[in-house]
Amino acid sequence: MSTARQLNSLFPRAADIPERYRQGAPIEQREYLVNGELRRWDGPLVSVRSPIFLATEQGDEQVLLGSTPLLDAEAALTALDAAVQAYDHGQGLWPNLRVAERIQHVEGFLTRMREQREAVVHLLMWEIGKNLKDSQKEFDRTCDYIVDTIESLKELDRHSSRFELEQGTLGQIRRVPLGVALCMGPYNYPLNETFTTLIPALIMGNTVVFKPAKFGVLLIRPLLEAFRDSFPPGVINVIYGRGRETVSALMASGKIDVFAFIGTHKGASDLKKLHPRPHRLRAALGLDAKNPGIVLPQVDLDNAVNEAITGALSFNGQRCTALKILFVHETVLDAFLEKFTAKLAALKPGMPWDDDVALTPLPEPGKVEYLSDLLDDAVAKGARVVNPGGGTHRQSFFYPALLSPVTPAMRLYQEEQFGPLVPVVPYREVKEVIDYVLHSDYGQQLSIFGNDSAQVGRLVDAFVNQVGRININAQCQRGPDSFPFNGRKNSAEGTLSVQDALRVFSIRTLVATRFNPENKELISEIIRNRESGFITTDYIF
Ligand code: G3H
Repeated sequence: MSTARQLNSLFPRAADIPERYRQGAPIEQREYLVNGELRRWDGPLVSVRSPIFLATEQGDEQVLLGSTPLLDAEAALTALDAAVQAYDHGQGLWPNLRVAERIQHVEGFLTRMREQREAVVHLLMWEIGKNLKDSQKEFDRTCDYIVDTIESLKELDRHSSRFELEQGTLGQIRRVPLGVALCMGPYNYPLNETFTTLIPALIMGNTVVFKPAKFGVLLIRPLLEAFRDSFPPGVINVIYGRGRETVSALMASGKIDVFAFIGTHKGASDLKKLHPRPHRLRAALGLDAKNPGIVLPQVDLDNAVNEAITGALSFNGQRCTALKILFVHETVLDAFLEKFTAKLAALKPGMPWDDDVALTPLPEPGKVEYLSDLLDDAVAKGARVVNPGGGTHRQSFFYPALLSPVTPAMRLYQEEQFGPLVPVVPYREVKEVIDYVLHSDYGQQLSIFGNDSAQVGRLVDAFVNQVGRININAQCQRGPDSFPFNGRKNSAEGTLSVQDALRVFSIRTLVATRFNPENKELISEIIRNRESGFITTDYIF
């Protein structure tokens, strides 16, 4: 069947959707979480539309999922005030709780969160078009991340329960919170990526204002009660609305101490500049990327194609770690394109709940037009669409296009497409690829596909000072979550991993004293009488 014909029957009729995956009446959400209570917003709402359309007698109709509060700056600032008050210059209940107690709160939240798995997975499919398997994976991976974070904090705390004696000075070093954190995640991992900053921020004793991503907003709704009931008032506050209005006001207040943001480098810079005391703002940023895949002449081509296809097209290429440009040596170009085309043809388009579906509609309005423009630009400048039907689209669905030869004159060479376009740049000399990486504005990861040890070794050395991770014969990816995840240039600020995130959201504080009999006795008394939460040798198992 031709791609165009296949797309004619892409969107289901309402009655064709299996009952358990059907979306009920639109959800009108008016609640937001401030100071331990779900407040009702009586102001304007913003509609939440699904990337999914339904086939009707009148043609394709986009599904309206519901609406969320369009808070104004004033409402957002009340959430900030609650967080500031709960932190209370570090004197609040939460920043002073013992680590074991904070862990109990997070464990309580995790139990409640697990109860919402089905609701969240359902909304992941409907709000961002992520397929069922990947939506479930996102939920479960997030729960695992929380469990691992707890374990990692216990280990950190065990280290901190010891005193150190150096050059006659006795010291105890602990990690303590930084203050008020603003956490904002991306729409492609609206649960997972947001929680990989939110949970470490909370568990380290910071208080938080959390603003959900631009899509994948309603799926936070089932967790609001769990947040409310699991943490003391003001520790976690959840706001909604346009970033320009709400987040700008928060940053301009100067009361944000940590800014955790996953999005564009432009967005991050604009927001950071609003802070009146930028030297007091710590940032953890995950930003743009244009990860290259480099296919060397000596290569296991089947493996390279398998990895490149998932690397470039899983979740329709909407991953920050996706392979966004492929450099393929001219001697293997034809074979590579042929194998890639065959594999691509086997990817099944459909709805997120369909069995084995790989390609789904895109949530961003205007995205299909943007991708079509990039494709047209490349074709006008000499590239061809290699795979049959590549670039065919219908409403929010864009069928992937493999494009070759892509050259520096084309927008796709530099722009991060964040979608199902696969640009292939044929090369003769490896220096062309090295130059690309050296002069790229991005520096997240790259993949090298090859089996000649001299070539691979040389390239690894050429790139170690350019990107945060080099993958050999494997696609780019964030996991395992215990590995450092970062980037250079415009791609990131700071390093995240289960262990690193605990450090990002805290600072080491040291209590030190000259080691003499009087001070030894004083410290022993404090410990014996449990007169300090900081100076203690309590040990968490
Ligand atoms: O969107 C960026 C994500 O951090 C990528 O994570 O490599 O596990 O898909 P992933």
